[in-house]
Amino acid sequence: MRLDKFLAETGVGSRKEVKQLLKKSLVTVNDIIVKDAKTQVDENKDMISFAGEPLVYQEFYYYMLHKPQGVISATEDKRDQTVIDLLQDEDFREDLFPVGRLDKDTEGLLLLTNDGQLAHQLLSPKKHVDKEYFAKIQGLVGSNDKEKFAEGFALTNGELVKPSELLIDKIDEAEGISEIRLIIQEGKFHQVKRMFEAVDKKVIYLKRLRMGSLWLDEELPLGAYRAITNEELDLLKKID
Ligand code: URA
Repeated sequence: MRLDKFLAETGVGSRKEVKQLLKKSLVTVNDIIVKDAKTQVDENKDMISFAGEPLVYQEFYYYMLHKPQGVISATEDKRDQTVIDLLQDEDFREDLFPVGRLDKDTEGLLLLTNDGQLAHQLLSPKKHVDKEYFAKIQGLVGSNDKEKFAEGFALTNGELVKPSELLIDKIDEAEGISEIRLIIQEGKFHQVKRMFEAVDKKVIYLKRLRMGSLWLDEELPLGAYRAITNEELDLLKKID
């Protein structure tokens, strides 16, 4: 790739800034000062340094974000703050995007990456990747709902949802509120909310806990994120 692209991708600066830095003799390729932005480099073999510090090239980035409410799952928006806006300047990259969408009022696990292939695999209905949610439901969830969800059924508009696993954690009969977990392998628009609507109940709080093997790190405060570990990444990539 071109040297200016390499420098921009390793976070040295924008393409424009990088040109100025090259002029100042701050960049070496294999210990030789290089000033031409168009120089071709091999990111895997050449030793490229900026101000004497060797630069490490990383092609793909993976961040686990604890999405808060009020933020939208998009890369850009005219009105609202996006999940990409939550990144620190040093982690921001043009090519990062959220893997799938959580509603504005949904919290929880959202993977941000620039790895299109992994994103596609995690979202493809053919791959049957689990998405596990915790929800508070207005209404008393019962074994009849569990059975219906296990079989798959039609939403109120006739759209079919595939079998899912519904786990009832807590029922507060006095308040008429249930706490549940739901494991689905699809990602239809407002799917969890619409599934409960179809059984005459209302989701009043929704949080994604897991995607495939990747669990939300409960140590992460709302709005915070961290790079996923190599171990988490290896497990996540094990999709049939
Ligand atoms: N299902 C929903 O209804 N909303 C989400 O944000 C995710 C799944």
